[in-house]
Amino acid sequence: MQPETLADLTRPPVATDLFREAMSRLGAPVTLVTTDGPAGRQGLTVSAITSVSDAPPTVLVCLNRSNRSHETFLQNGVVGISILGAPHNALAGIFASSRRSADEKFATGRWRTGQTGAPLLDDAVVTLDCTISDIHSSGSHDVLFCIVEAIGLHDAPEAGLAWFGRNFHHLPLSGSATQ
Ligand SMILES: Cc1cc2nc3c(=O)[nH]c(=O)nc-3n(C[C@H](O)[C@H](O)[C@H](O)COP(=O)(O)O)c2cc1C
Repeated sequence: MQPETLADLTRPPVATDLFREAMSRLGAPVTLVTTDGPAGRQGLTVSAITSVSDAPPTVLVCLNRSNRSHETFLQNGVVGISILGAPHNALAGIFASSRRSADEKFATGRWRTGQTGAPLLDDAVVTLDCTISDIHSSGSHDVLFCIVEAIGLHDAPEAGLAWFGRNFHHLPLSGSATQ
């Protein structure tokens, strides 16, 4: 008998709804991922972001290719990542809206321009100013590998913001998970 392979096509696919339910239980960060440049300014709420490497400092961001903003990110080649905190629930909702224009989204919050030209949220817990180094397509999404060119750290963030069970949750800066 052949050993199991990662892509065993004889196995029935997992239902999309089941996969989405499973992923809703994976606690995740909440960020605003933004861009600006020759192709224009865009931004959206993103949880699919993770650290990849510290030399060079690299993160990855997964973006749905059907997002209105998608081509703009690829054409500008720069990405601002603003990691959100407890005060930013409403902002996360605004940037996740498929009905608001980019101008409507950026009308909320105080924004500055990073050295790459990407917009960064002034009072974010952390900002990462990035250039795209590589793009891998996988299924419905593109995985953007982003080199971090500059970092901004908030002096005294109140609390973090997490996405879990299709809801926002506040994460205290100090505390213990032990019971
Ligand atoms: C908490 C949360 C996390 C999200 N994470 C992602 C993500 O990782 N990647 C993605 O492409 N869309 C993600 N979305 C959905 C986009 O924010 C949403 O589809 C948005 O309307 C896309 O904007 P656009 O169509 O203007 O580009 C997330 C939404 C929420 C509420």
